[in-house]
Formats: sequence, C-alpha cells, structure tokens
Amino acid sequence: MDPEVEALLAPLRALVKEQGDVVRELKTQKAPEMDVKKAVAELKRRFFYDQSFAIYGGVSGQYDFGPMGCALKGNLLNLWRSFFVMEEQMLEVDCTMLTPEPVLKASGHVDKFADLMVKDLKNGECFRLDHLIKAQLEKSEKKATAEVKARCDDIIVKLDNMGAPEMSAIMKEFSMKSPVTNNDLSEPMEFNLMFQTHIGPTGLMKGFLRPETAQGIFVNFKRLLEFNQGKLPFAAAQIGNAFRNEISPRSGLLRVREFTMAEIEHFCDPQDKSHPKFDDIRGTEICLYSAANQMEGKSVYKTTIGEAVDSSTVANHTIGYFMARIQQFLLKIGIDPKRLRFRQHMGNEMAHYACDCWDAEILTSYGWVECVGCADRSAFDLNQHYKATGVKLCAEKPLPEPVMENVVELITNKSALGKTFKKEAKLLTTHLANLDTAAVESIESSLNSTGQHSVEIDGQTFTLTKDMIVEVKRFQKKVFVEEIIPSVIEPSFGVGRIMYSLLEHSFRVRPDDEQRTYFSLPAWMAPIKCSVLPLSNNPDFIPLVKLLSKALTEAEVSHKVDDSSGSIGKRYARTDEVAVPFGICVDFDSLKTPHTVTVRERDSTLQVRMPVDDVPEVLRRMSQGKLLWDDVMKKYPKFEQQQSSQK
Ligand code: ATP
Ligand code: GLY
Repeated sequence: MDPEVEALLAPLRALVKEQGDVVRELKTQKAPEMDVKKAVAELKRRFFYDQSFAIYGGVSGQYDFGPMGCALKGNLLNLWRSFFVMEEQMLEVDCTMLTPEPVLKASGHVDKFADLMVKDLKNGECFRLDHLIKAQLEKSEKKATAEVKARCDDIIVKLDNMGAPEMSAIMKEFSMKSPVTNNDLSEPMEFNLMFQTHIGPTGLMKGFLRPETAQGIFVNFKRLLEFNQGKLPFAAAQIGNAFRNEISPRSGLLRVREFTMAEIEHFCDPQDKSHPKFDDIRGTEICLYSAANQMEGKSVYKTTIGEAVDSSTVANHTIGYFMARIQQFLLKIGIDPKRLRFRQHMGNEMAHYACDCWDAEILTSYGWVECVGCADRSAFDLNQHYKATGVKLCAEKPLPEPVMENVVELITNKSALGKTFKKEAKLLTTHLANLDTAAVESIESSLNSTGQHSVEIDGQTFTLTKDMIVEVKRFQKKVFVEEIIPSVIEPSFGVGRIMYSLLEHSFRVRPDDEQRTYFSLPAWMAPIKCSVLPLSNNPDFIPLVKLLSKALTEAEVSHKVDDSSGSIGKRYARTDEVAVPFGICVDFDSLKTPHTVTVRERDSTLQVRMPVDDVPEVLRRMSQGKLLWDDVMKKYPKFEQQQSSQK
C-alpha cells in the first residue's frame, strides 16, 4: 500500500481497534441483563440448582442444589467459617429448626413477623403489597409525565418505610388492580410468614419451623457465656436452614421459602459497643445509602467506615466493624465492588427487634437485593426470653468500685415445705431462693396481712403459709459486679442470595466469540478446581491421566477427567461454562520423559507446560489462592501450539 495512504489510515485503524477493545471489554464485563438472566438460567441445565419436586410440576420458592451448586455452597460456607468463626474465634452452634411456640411468642415472631398482602377479590390470588405497588409504579412511570414520574420514584424509595394505611392510600391514588386479571383488590392484610406445625402426636404442642437461626443462639446464651468464662464481648455463629412462607415468590433463588442462613450474634456491653479490632478496618472504603439520604432523595456516597462511625452515620464501632468485614468477605468470594452498597433501614422499616440496621445490597438483573442484614438488636431478645422464662440472661460486669447492697432473703422451713409439697418442694425452694427484693417483700406483706400467699410456677399454684417461712432476713453485702443484659449486633447472611449474585457477577462472554461463555469465579470458590483432559482418545494417554487423577486426589484438588470425544477446545469450553479455573491436558509430548503436561487458565485461556510431578502442589496452591497464575506463568514456559483450537 502507498505509504502516504498507510500513514493516513494508521491512526484511524488504531481508533477502530480502541473502540473494538472498549466494546469487547463492555461485553466481557457487563453482558446485557437478559443475557445474564439467560446464562444463569442455563445453570439449571448444568444442575447448579433446579426447582424442587420438578417432576411433580415444582413448587415456587423451593430449589434443590445439584452437584455444582452443592460444591459452590460448600466452598462459600467453608470460607465463611474461616473468615468469621475461626478468625474472630466465634462459638459455633447447631440448633434445631423445629421450635416450640412459646419461644417465638417471646421473640415477637408470632405477633409481628408478617408482611402486608392483598388478594385478588375474584380469584383469590395473593400479592405481597410492597412488591405489587413497586411493580405497578414502575410500569406506569413509563408513560407518565415528569411530575408523576417524580412522585412514583419518591414512593418507591420510601415504600419500605410505609405501613398499611399509607400503602392503601397509594393503591387508591393509582387505582391499582390485580395485575393479570384487572380484578379489584382487597384492603391490605397482615400475613404471618411462619410455617406452623404441631410437635408430638397429641397435637397439643404448637410449634413453628424457625424463620431465622438467631433464636437458637439466644436461648443458649447462658451456656455460651459460661463457655466463654463469663466474659463479654463474644460472638456465637450458626449456619442452618430457615423457613418463611413468602407470599408470592417469583425471583428464583432470591426469594425462597426454605433457605440457608449464616448468622452471627455478637454480644457486648450495651454501654460499650467499641470493637477491639476496629482500627484494623477503619480505612476501609464503603458505599453508604443512609436513611436520611433515602428520605431526602439523595444518592449513595463513598466514605471510609471510620468516617461513617465518627460522624454517627453508623451507630457504633461494632456495627461498623462487621459492615467492613461483610464487605471484605463478599469481595473475597468474587462480588463486584461496583455493585455493592450498604443501605440503612428507615425508621418504620426495621424489624420489630432492631434499633439500627444496614443491609449489604448487591445489584443484580433483578435490581438491588438485600443479601446480608447487619442489625443492632439491642437487648431485645435476651430480655424477652428472660421475661418469658424467668431465667436471667445476663452477664456480670465488674464494678469500678465495690458497693454495699441491701439484701432481703427468705429463709424457708424445708421440712414444712417438704411435708406439704412432697416432690414438688424442690422446685418451689429454688424459685423462692432466686426472688428479688420486691417479690420477697410482697410475700412478706401478704403473709403478715392474710397469713398466706400464692406462688405460680410453670402453671402450678403453690400456697405458702406462715409456718413455711422461718424469717425474712435483711443484711448488707459487698458486691463487686453488676448484672447487665448484653446488646446484640447481628450480621445475617442469606446464602442462596449471595450465591446467585455471585453467579451473575462472574458471568463473562468471550470477546471474540459470543457463544463462548464462562464464570470467572475465583479459584477458591469454583466448584471443581481443574479438569484433566487427554488430547484425544489414544489409549497411550490413559496411564498418565490415571496417575494425575490419583495425585490430585491425594493433594485434595477436586477435578474431573473428561475423556469424551470432541475437540480439546470444545471440552475446555464445557469446563469454562461450569467455572473450572484450570485445565490440564495430556498430549503426545507428555509421553516423553521427563513427563510434562499443559496447564490452562480459564479467564486468560493462556497455557504453560510443567512437569507432571509439579502439578498436584501447584494446582493445590492455586486452588486455594495461595499461588497466583501470573507467578506460575513466570516460572514455566508458555505453551502456544494448540492455542487456536483451545480457546
Ligand atoms: P426481604 O425484605 O427481601 O423479604 P428481609 O428483610 O425479610 O428480606 P431479613 O429478615 O433481614 O430479610 O433476613 C436476613 C437475610 O436472609 C437477608 O439478608 C437475605 O439474604 C436472607 N433472606 C431473607 N428472606 C429470604 C428469602 N425468602 N429467600 C432467600 N433469602 C432470604
Ligand atoms: N436473624 C435476622 C433475620 O432473620 O432477619
């Protein structure tokens, strides 16, 4: 070509290439939403997860995890355990899901764990009211004037903060009808989300499937505190399933009726919510969407967690500490930092037990989704269980100076109690020995005025008479500690929601071939760490493939041998689709001594050739994130021969 024309064209070519790179980058990083949804739906084909009881038509809001989903979930939970339970030395428990009614009555769930719902007045179909309003406003916004659009946006932002009367007024303002049938809708009604059952054959003991794992920790508080030598602060943790009878679950894994939670209950002095490790995370940058900003129509902003606590936007160091740790965890598993924010609950939005709450929300093709709640439950739950059982759920806090305290104590006549109450006497004696001053004085005054007093214990009535009490002793004692009911800070992780978001965020399309997709999960999260592929079905490859498989098993590297027919490139593509980060290929050069194989990395599709003997250790360390692919590339020669067919 004429050099002059070439000189003219060169910058244009460069520009075109630059644009192409931008488009490719966009395509890789930000596949259009529909593609993402389609790709993730494809995961059903690969049995990451699928609808439960599918051969019976399935049940909405229930999903089973297949082999890939199970392995991914296992990796996520293992990392959660080492990140939180191990690193923070938390006390892990595993409590039952079936819960007697009094426990959930005390916790407030029987009376208050409800969502607002409306019914289609003709066909009875039920809708969760806030979801229905949001969907209808989003739809009507499309053809609305700027003024109406602004009104709709404002309602959507504040919806979580509204109660039944406000939502009912909005339904009327926008003349809302049942979505498909256009039938009239009922007035809002509360629907309790717990699944009720009976425990035992008599049908007399009511129970529920737990709606959160937290209550199991609260009811075991006394034993956990003892296990921790009576010292605060400490945290307990639990991983397990919870059940919620969601009104109309339609968003796949994001809203289900049975799901795994991983919860932490951090118990601390209500007067001192500092955290010993706060300075370690003080500088962590975090995206906040405060309640004030939501109410004032302002947006999300970036700050450091130190600054957020210093300015009292985040209420205390312990919530702040956990927010930073939650973020570190989510980034470590592969969540895109640009699609993560912390949104504060507005006053009326808070659960009945909470006094401050920040949700880690992740942006998916379904919009922003709450994946981890981080709430200050204050002393609500421990107080409620104390009131219901009479068992003091408190900790002892050393006083700066000992103080003298007046004590009033009942001295009982054990033989008189024994004669009257026989084997029940012990229950009564224990009860009387633990009464506070006011209760003792009330017994004393009724014995003095009427000669008797009734005591209720677990539904039994005991009538005390004067002869059963030797004296009411009054004395002073020196006390060194005060009793406090601890406050609880609770990070609560929804495992399925995190997994789904992670799959969306790690979905990629190869820039040069839209048909080829992969999941760029970090190696430590990938369900299977590597594939072992003979180049062809030549029987000479079999012994080496077997040997490699055995060595990888010994090194605890999960792997899959794929000796099916099909080009090596097609087989790589198949493993990319299920996120396998490394591929080992046994080829003709492998048969020569010293034996070597090629190792391919999923995201870059680059390959190196390495001695077979190095493979197990290198793969083990790469799978755990302890050795980086870049370092492997520096150490071993690049392998390029089969690139064209192995992309
Ligand atoms: P939503 O407002 O979306 O119904 P919530 O505010 O009731 O959720 P929480 O009570 O804070 O949720 O539950 C704690 C965590 O449990 C959530 O952050 C979420 O990850 C998970 N979770 C709650 N409900 C579901 C569900 N139906 N399906 C899957 N995960 C859930
Ligand atoms: N345990 C917190 C929740 O269920 O929201």
